[in-house]
Amino acid sequence: MKGVVLAGGLGSRLYPLTKVTNKHLLPVYNEPMIYYPIRTLVNAGIEEIIIVTGGNNAGDFLRLLENGRDFGLKHINYTYQQGEGGIAAALGLAEHFADKEKIVVVLGDNIIETNIRAAADDFRKQKDGARILLKEVHDPQRFGVPVFEGKKIIRVEEKPVNPASNYAVIGIYMYDHRVFEFIRSLKPSQRGELEITDVNNFYIREGKMQWDVLDGWWSDAGTFESLQAAGNMVAETGANKI
Ligand code: DAU
Repeated sequence: MKGVVLAGGLGSRLYPLTKVTNKHLLPVYNEPMIYYPIRTLVNAGIEEIIIVTGGNNAGDFLRLLENGRDFGLKHINYTYQQGEGGIAAALGLAEHFADKEKIVVVLGDNIIETNIRAAADDFRKQKDGARILLKEVHDPQRFGVPVFEGKKIIRVEEKPVNPASNYAVIGIYMYDHRVFEFIRSLKPSQRGELEITDVNNFYIREGKMQWDVLDGWWSDAGTFESLQAAGNMVAETGANKI
């Protein structure tokens, strides 16, 4: 199983912090934001990792991460996203790297307290399909939100005004090789992006989506409030505990 960290996009919600650097190079307490999603993958036993980045500061990732020695890696792969076509568009750039293997995708601004070991091990055993992770939140309208029928997710709604549940689909996704086929068939959403939620709905329609609830806290770090909250949580309890 291979890993993909998505660190493209323009980070416009954090402007002017992102005027001269990439959002994922900003500090979250004592480390650059991108360290956390990389460690999420490494702690799940994933050693082959690609970073998808973009914008004017892409070279800084190479300077910062080099070949991943700080994470015990031998090598890191990089690719470049032109523009801000959406999370699914960024993931599409990892097709060649994935080379038909299963992948775990982590959004570059998603930080977790614990680890995804159990879910990743279950996905290794899962014959095919996809797996998402959920977390109960107080502001589901900011996220992808699952709609349940009993214990079954029947669809995910992206940033719904009236959320059907109090769960967020967090930015850690596990897919089989068909994900790239689904991405090719996507049309841009109202915000002009290829949405990861549409990808998840493909798997749900085919009855191929499994889900787990994540242990410990989870935060994105893409707004001033969440960036500060993530920093505070890392300072108070630490992140990526094994
Ligand atoms: O944090 C979890 C949420 O992430 C999910 O619940 C939502 O369903 C999902 O759509 C996403 O929501 P956001 O609107 O918060 O995503 P954002 O545009 O902030 O992008 C998150 C990361 O994805 C960003 O840190 C880098 C990567 N990305 C994003 C875009 C738009 C790219 O690599 N390329 C892109 O073009």
